[in-house]
Amino acid sequence: MTQFLAAAVQTEPEFGSVQQNVTTALELIPADVDLAVLPELFATGYQFTSRDEARQMAEDLETGPTCTRLRKAAAEQRTTIVAGVVEGESDRVFNTAVLCRPDGSWDKYRKIHLFWDEKDIFDPGDEPFPVVAACGTRIGLMICFDWVYPEASRALALDGATVICHPSNLVLPYCPDAMITRSIENRIYSITTNRVGTENRTGNALTFIGLSQIIGPTGERLAACGGDAPGVATAAIDPRTTDKQITPRNNLWEDRRPEFYKR
Ligand code: ACM
Repeated sequence: MTQFLAAAVQTEPEFGSVQQNVTTALELIPADVDLAVLPELFATGYQFTSRDEARQMAEDLETGPTCTRLRKAAAEQRTTIVAGVVEGESDRVFNTAVLCRPDGSWDKYRKIHLFWDEKDIFDPGDEPFPVVAACGTRIGLMICFDWVYPEASRALALDGATVICHPSNLVLPYCPDAMITRSIENRIYSITTNRVGTENRTGNALTFIGLSQIIGPTGERLAACGGDAPGVATAAIDPRTTDKQITPRNNLWEDRRPEFYKR
C-alpha cells in the first residue's frame, strides 16, 4: 500500500468504565481508515491510586478483554488499531501500546519514560522502541512522555519508521508543537492521540489537553482535534514523502556525525 488513511481518535474515558470506554472509542473509528490511533490507557483511564489497583485492572495482551476486542475490531473493520492498555505480566505491570492488524497479528511497546506518579504504578519498559510492519509501511511506537526525549523518535526513524504512532494522555502543553519538530528532524509522520477531560482520584487533579494531531514529514499539521471534546482527525499518509534527501547535498542520515554526539 503506498498511500493510506489514518485517524487520531480522541476520547474522554471515564476511569474504570472499561467496557463503555472501549465501545465508545471503537464507535468513533471512521469506517474508511486504514490506521486508527487511540489514546494511552484508553480503556481504563489514567489515574490509578496504587500499583495494586493497576495490577487488578491489567490484562494479558494475548487473552485480555480489551486486546481481544481491539483485535476483533481490527479484523472486522479491516483497520490497524494502535491503543494504550494496562499490561500485566506475572507480578509486573506496564503502560503498554498494542498495534493490532486486521489479520489478527499484533505487536506491543512498553512505555520506557514514565511520567510523574506513573513511577509508583508501572514498571518501566524493558524492550527497545519497536518498528513494525503495518499498512504497507514501517510503523514506530512510543507513548506520551517519550516525546520529551528526541532519542525516542530518532531511534524509531533510524530503524526505518515512516510513521510514529504516539498514544498519549498529555497534561503539559508542549507536546503538540514539539512533535512538529520531531517530525521535521526525522522526516516522518507522527500521529499523537491524546484524550480530554479531568481525573482527580488522588487529590492531584489532572486535565488532559486534547489537541490530537497528525503531522507530516516536513512539519505540516495535516489534521487536528480541539482541546475540549472527543473527536477524530484524519489525514492521508504517503510513506514515499519521508525521503531523507533534504537538499541535493544533504541527506539526513548520510550527513550524521555520530562521532561528535558521544558523551
Ligand atoms: C504522560 O506521559 N502521560 C504525560
